[in-house]
Amino acid sequence: MKKIAIIGAGVMGKQHAQTIQKHPETELIAVCDPFSEAMAQEFQVPNFKDLDELLRQCKLDGVVIANPNRFHVSTAIECMKHGIPCLLEKPLALNTEEALQLISEQKKLNVPILVGHHRRHNKIIQQAYDLIQQGILGKINTFNALWTVYKPDSYFEIEWHRKSGAGVLAINLVHDLDLMRYLNGEIESVHAMTSHQNRKLEVEDTISILVRFKNGALGTLLASDAAVSPWGWDQNTEENKASFAPSPDQNCYYISGTEGALSVPNLEYWRYPDHSTKSWSTALIKKQQLPNKDEDVYMNQLSHFIKVIEGKRSPISSPEDAIKNIQLLECIEKSAREQRTVLIEPLEFLAAIA
Ligand SMILES: NC(=O)c1ccc[n+]([C@@H]2O[C@H](COP(=O)([O-])OP(=O)(O)OC[C@H]3O[C@@H](n4cnc5c(N)ncnc54)[C@H](O)[C@@H]3O)[C@@H](O)[C@H]2O)c1
Repeated sequence: MKKIAIIGAGVMGKQHAQTIQKHPETELIAVCDPFSEAMAQEFQVPNFKDLDELLRQCKLDGVVIANPNRFHVSTAIECMKHGIPCLLEKPLALNTEEALQLISEQKKLNVPILVGHHRRHNKIIQQAYDLIQQGILGKINTFNALWTVYKPDSYFEIEWHRKSGAGVLAINLVHDLDLMRYLNGEIESVHAMTSHQNRKLEVEDTISILVRFKNGALGTLLASDAAVSPWGWDQNTEENKASFAPSPDQNCYYISGTEGALSVPNLEYWRYPDHSTKSWSTALIKKQQLPNKDEDVYMNQLSHFIKVIEGKRSPISSPEDAIKNIQLLECIEKSAREQRTVLIEPLEFLAAIA
């Protein structure tokens, strides 16, 4: 049994606590939250107000860090100094500078960190990844992604939800960008436009992003949290039924290449009957791989974290990988602000320590 503590007992902390409780190989032994005892009481474990006390008093195999974003880096560094592997909620850090500081410390301390880009643990993504690796699409040319939902007006009663930096880009699309990179490789440049016209708040309510991948493919990511629609990862995969009403018959990613096309999450794919009949006048043959929709993605993530703790697997989402999502967010914001295409510069420091 792996002994795990949760740092930050809010919405995500509780999600992790329930997962740890259900998992046959993990035991929740403590919570650390300076402001709330409620979760510790509910799960009948001690609550520590102070991180240092938690780390000195408990013998831990791992921690889940689910406190506010501004504490992610300092908390992870403190845990690594005690040799404790971390499952660190996204975002890795507030900005690339902070993320680089974390990576630099991790190199010295050599303690693993798994970043909580939980969608990568969804079996559907593994299925899509495998289909792409098998070459059913040929060389990928286009990647079209959608995340359009209507957030209730009450969501914006919370002050920070109205402020710049807490919009659909940073909160929601970071997951889609992560999957676009996971499925089709690194992004070379972005060009974005934002709109505030629906809610007229400081935070954007709609955004369109053009991306050029390093492999030459072009992509679009179009999103709005003020649009009524059934298209988006959360509705279509039923991964988070508590917040998103399901629309399981719809897709949110459309990927096409020189040999075929794939929709995600329903994993329908289209190809010509044979190579010699490749033409727009030939009827496509449609197939489908049944998507594995009943998986508990947080259980999968925790199982992976156990293997990371045991040194049997490298993190599927490492800090060195997740920093690229932070950098992408910064470049997209810059592109929208300056109304120009922004190149994703190589992070020199990462190259130096690679
Ligand atoms: N993977 C996902 O899809 C996903 C979804 C939602 C949130 N998140 C991330 O999870 C984290 C938590 O988000 P949330 O929605 O649960 O927030 P929340 O506000 O519900 O909870 C945060 C908790 O942290 C506690 N806290 C504050 N300062 C602390 C400190 N110094 N040490 C320990 N605890 C502290 C607060 O008292 C609160 O209980 C954020 O980083 C967020 O980005 C990830």
